[in-house]
Amino acid sequence: MVPTQSLLKRQLKRFFGSDFSIPSEWQGFIATVDSAYEEFEVDRELMERALEVSSEELLEANSEIRAIFQAIPDLVFRLDDEGTILSVKAGAGVDLPQRELSGKRIQECWLKYSGERFHEVLRRVIEEKAMVSIEHAEGAKGLESFHEVRLVPLLRNQVVAIARNITERKNAEAKLEQMHKQLANTSRQAGMAEIATNVLHNVGNVLNSVNVSASLVADSVKKSKSVGVAKVAALLREHEADLGRFMTEDPKGRLVPAYLAQLAEHLHADQQATLAELDSLQQNIEHIKKIVAMQQSYARVSGVVETAKVAELVEDSLRMNESSSSRHGIQTIREYADDVPLIQIDKHRVLQVLVNLLRNAKHACDDSGRPDKRITVRVACADARVRISVTDNGIGIVAENIKRIFNHGFTTRRNGHGFGLHSGALAAKEMGGSLSVHSDGPQQGATFTLELPLQPAQELS
Ligand SMILES: Nc1ncnc2c1ncn2[C@@H]1O[C@H](COP(=O)(O)OP(=O)(O)OP(=O)(O)O)[C@@H](O)[C@H]1O
Ligand SMILES: [Mg+2]
Repeated sequence: MVPTQSLLKRQLKRFFGSDFSIPSEWQGFIATVDSAYEEFEVDRELMERALEVSSEELLEANSEIRAIFQAIPDLVFRLDDEGTILSVKAGAGVDLPQRELSGKRIQECWLKYSGERFHEVLRRVIEEKAMVSIEHAEGAKGLESFHEVRLVPLLRNQVVAIARNITERKNAEAKLEQMHKQLANTSRQAGMAEIATNVLHNVGNVLNSVNVSASLVADSVKKSKSVGVAKVAALLREHEADLGRFMTEDPKGRLVPAYLAQLAEHLHADQQATLAELDSLQQNIEHIKKIVAMQQSYARVSGVVETAKVAELVEDSLRMNESSSSRHGIQTIREYADDVPLIQIDKHRVLQVLVNLLRNAKHACDDSGRPDKRITVRVACADARVRISVTDNGIGIVAENIKRIFNHGFTTRRNGHGFGLHSGALAAKEMGGSLSVHSDGPQQGATFTLELPLQPAQELS
């Protein structure tokens, strides 16, 4: 038998010389050694191949990691359980004196994170095998750079700290918050502008009545019978010397007492009418004052909630429109239910809503051109709510306008603002109630219903 394995051949040659021939009794033994060598050879080749593959894989993994490092802007520290930096790798674009950091404790050089707290963080990462994320800032206030550091456990109580610069994100977040604040501010200002418009609208409505009252007073003063008093006085002065005879015998003089009595009666009636008008004027001015005061305090409290009698509120609003309604020949019908309890409400807001409803109803009647103009005001109570409705037999509302009638700015009147119903609906909602409309169409009149809770909105919620 001749050995196949060259190593065995070489060994036999070295030991026994080149012209050695294997004795027959060794043949079996040599054959076994030869096949053992052969098996070893195969194993070796296999192992070499495996090693080659592994090292290729390792190289690949290494180059992959290197590529990742070059691409990501992170800093990677390997730390021991005390925080000592064992190695540091800086990602793309990170300028860091890596050598200077090695061997130092990260919490004392780079990560100025309070020692005790950092110790606790490290303990958690190592003992609980948990990933912990912390944030830290460095640099002067306003110019800080922020880092997010993720600590991940490794073998042998080591920890890898991956730090990412999140300054841009932080600044963007701060900017976003600032913008949010600005937006909130702007919308608050817009709200204030809306309140101002509301004041103007409501004051405008009341001023209309003030104007009417003022011109009525002026008219009555102009037409005053006080000239008559002057005439009598002149007559009496003329007859100063023989006043007794003049009053008893002169036909003119004898008329004086009766004339004076009549004059007094007229003057008294004028005075009463003027006083009534002045009274309504005063009430209107008081209402204006309250509107302004209420809106000024709007930002703090949304008005004063008081106990009110609904019928009285309705009467007040009717009174404010009274002169204009009667001048336009509009009949007002009142239907107040008896069982309406007192309500807790912001009176002046309700008054504003009602004044606008009545004014709208008056315009609707005027525009209809019909002779029998009529506004019906009803007050009723159902389901713990009070329902105040204003019905007119005026021009009515077409279906498509019903949908947008409460929109801000919707108006069909030449001098309208389209604000009254919008703010009325808002006010009703804020008081925990609602404002709704119904009309069967053009020339069919309309009904607006203001529904209010018996208790104020806050108490209900
Ligand atoms: N009773 C009604 N009958 C018919 N149309 C009405 C009635 N009430 C309101 N409208 C319609 O709704 C529109 C909006 O009313 P709203 O009170 O909001 O504003 P406006 O009266 O036009 O102006 P302002 O803001 O000065 O009150 C009116 O222009 C009118 O077209
Ligand atoms: Mg209106």
